[in-house]
Amino acid sequence: MDSALNEDGAGVASVAGARDIVLVASGKGGVGKSTVAVNLAVALARGGARTGIVDLDLAGPSVARLTGTDEVPELRDDGLAMPVERHGLSVVSLSAMIPPEQALVWKGPLVAQAVTQLFREVAWPDLDILVVDLPPGTGDVLLSVVEQMPVAGAVVVTTPERMASIDAERAVALFHEHDIPVFGIVRNMAEIICPCCGEAQPLFEPAAAVDVARRMHVADLGAIPADLGASRQAARGIPIMAAAPDGVTGQAFAALAQAVIAAVGRERVAAQNQRHGERSIWEMINGN
Ligand SMILES: Nc1ncnc2c1ncn2[C@@H]1O[C@H](COP(=O)(O)OP(=O)(O)O)[C@@H](O)[C@H]1O
Ligand SMILES: [Mg+2]
Repeated sequence: MDSALNEDGAGVASVAGARDIVLVASGKGGVGKSTVAVNLAVALARGGARTGIVDLDLAGPSVARLTGTDEVPELRDDGLAMPVERHGLSVVSLSAMIPPEQALVWKGPLVAQAVTQLFREVAWPDLDILVVDLPPGTGDVLLSVVEQMPVAGAVVVTTPERMASIDAERAVALFHEHDIPVFGIVRNMAEIICPCCGEAQPLFEPAAAVDVARRMHVADLGAIPADLGASRQAARGIPIMAAAPDGVTGQAFAALAQAVIAAVGRERVAAQNQRHGERSIWEMINGN
């Protein structure tokens, strides 16, 4: 799956040593955004992409917990923080540096400073993809990210029912407003695997998120099941993509990673063609 990464792409020397930055966002909290971000990152790494993940959900950070990396990062002599290497990923989160009982009010300038710190004051290795766990909804963090670095695209996570999907639609609209390509919508906890018969049962009225994808002209990136095993492993700091990559949930994340690799590849071609003043094949196919 790393073939799309090896061809010479946009060649934009982006910050954090990463060739492509992929945002993971949601309209609201608790829909599994961080779970998807972490498992997508592990799936990308397992597919051969040099992958990092950075937690920008400053008020509700959970990447360190979900990856079992809550140790305080080491500082190099030059003052740059070392990412923690785990599950094949380079992981960076502010939460490891701030005790959970310490309340922080994240206001504009402080947010911009934190974003700068996490991207530029870290000894990031050369990466193919840097996955960014954004805070839910709209706000200062996204603006800081957009101002500070080129972004390949965004994945929007929602649970598939109507209430969450409406908020996901807003998130898609916001990315469009900032000219950030939306790779598609992931329907997390779309179904539950019955522990008795092993059959997948829908958890929510399933059509809402698919409708949003259709209405907003973005891809439906598929469903991730609600997986009790995944939440148990997550509580131990082991992403299900690392614990059981061949299970149903692992396979769903592997498929998501493939879709993201394909989307990143398309964006590279589009960017290259734009530089050459041509329309991309994708634009021609889509008639844009
Ligand atoms: N597909 C899933 N199967 C089982 N549990 C999940 C799944 N996705 C998320 N969870 C659980 O739901 C809770 C919220 O997920 P999280 O990723 O922290 O959401 P968010 O980042 O959107 O706030 C966590 O306890 C997580 O373990
Ligand atoms: Mg989260």
